[in-house]
Amino acid sequence: MKIAMIGTGYVGLVSGVCFAEFGFQVTCVDKNPAIIERLQAGEVTIFEPGLDELLVRNARDGRLVFTTDLATTVSEADVIFIAVGTPSRRGDGEADLQYIHAAADEIAAAMKPDAVVVIKSTVVVGTNADVRERIARARPGVPFSMVSNPEFLREGSAVEDFMRPDRVVVGVHDERGTAAMKRVYRPLYLRETPMIVTTLENAEIIKYAANAFLAMKVTFINEVADLCEKVGGNVQDVARAIGMDNRIGSKFLHAGPGFGGSCFPKDTRAYAATGRKMNAPQTLIEQVVTVNELRKRSMAERVIEAAQKTGAKSVAVLGIAFKPNTDDIRESPALDIIPALQKAGLAVRAHDPEARSVAEPVLPGVIWCKSAYEATDGAGIAVLLTEWNAYRALDLKRVASLMSGNILFDLRNVYSAQDLEGTGLDYRSVGRPLVGKGD
Ligand code: NAD
Ligand code: UGA
Repeated sequence: MKIAMIGTGYVGLVSGVCFAEFGFQVTCVDKNPAIIERLQAGEVTIFEPGLDELLVRNARDGRLVFTTDLATTVSEADVIFIAVGTPSRRGDGEADLQYIHAAADEIAAAMKPDAVVVIKSTVVVGTNADVRERIARARPGVPFSMVSNPEFLREGSAVEDFMRPDRVVVGVHDERGTAAMKRVYRPLYLRETPMIVTTLENAEIIKYAANAFLAMKVTFINEVADLCEKVGGNVQDVARAIGMDNRIGSKFLHAGPGFGGSCFPKDTRAYAATGRKMNAPQTLIEQVVTVNELRKRSMAERVIEAAQKTGAKSVAVLGIAFKPNTDDIRESPALDIIPALQKAGLAVRAHDPEARSVAEPVLPGVIWCKSAYEATDGAGIAVLLTEWNAYRALDLKRVASLMSGNILFDLRNVYSAQDLEGTGLDYRSVGRPLVGKGD
């Protein structure tokens, strides 16, 4: 079976490489020649743990090739996955489907009869049915199957998530689509991964509802953290105890600076927009969008207020990526917080283990440092923004001695009160009591 993967971003590249690892012949297509050149040279274009080894091995064994030639690739493929971006449309927050439509038109022009076209990108309800009609109009009389196969991988653990998903969701329109999906996911099926076979529309809603629910869970615990701060509570103790109730579950209950990334922000906006459009308001998610935006701003305000009180002139920011183990900075809290600090007249010294090269062009005026210690050197305030392993075991006494001030904002609750003992740092975390204030 020949697979074509259209789009080699975080989802397309990981999926393409993993399908090759399953033993299929995979051709990955991207319209960006710079990406394809690097992939052809065996260079991984995104930072994703474990991906480089699989890419090199499968390319060497001839199961994985990269090209910009969509037409030839599609004309030879049995199953064609669309994994292009679906960003937020400026203004109304709706998902911008222009890349999906463009890819569908190119596929329609080139596909062979009986091809199976699968949308892996996250698309709003009704898109698969629309694309099916669009392709049918472009190629009247040519049989093909339409499948919705949303992806649930997380950046930073994408390979593991793809290889061991909680479930595979496939929305189908006909039996041939179901049979094709059972074949491509057979290696997972053998590991007893549940496969939900449903309608195109259900598959689309499942993807958005899953992300919206997780984003809501994070937002919920962030608000619990605010309450804990006011009354001397500890959000980690609360999260642990409520998470032990199986009906609630312990995951996605880490309070922080607000969710970011290429998906939760845009998907919650698109889901809310769909609700408005369909006259089925998703009021909880509307609130999640607003509360999360306000939260990112309020984090910057906390730092600015502390700087004004202490006379600090510079801030060390540790972590720019929206989460650890990725170089993705899309809608990262850092992109809201750093410009706000600069606007308040504070100099920003930043470090990130992987995201510097993508962050540098979009964060002008930042002083880039090679390590957390270099960043904190001379800084009045330090802010731990992304919980990279590199920041989990910092020598806090050394940090304190390097800094010109002594305030450490740990917006990921990485450290405990014990870790702070004897450091002299004025430690402020999220939803937990202050430590060492006034030392
Ligand atoms: P991305 O922006 O990283 O990559 C998209 C790629 O598609 C780009 O390299 C672009 O050049 C290419 N492309 C666009 N149009 C093309 C065309 N016509 N032909 C060939 N290539 C084309 O996007 P991503 O983060 O991989 O996300 C893709 C989709 O998957 C989105 O809908 C997203 O919501 C969804 N998703 C993403 C994640 C994630 O962790 N990033 C997880 C699950 C689902
Ligand atoms: C998320 C989902 O977890 C994936 O299942 C989904 O496939 C993907 O979106 C998508 O549709 O693209 P991802 O964006 O890679 O994956 O990252 P998450 O681990 O979900 O984190 C999202 C944001 O929430 C990050 O900013 C993270 O720091 C924040 N978060 C997460 C918290 O603040 N607290 C938590 O407890 C969990």
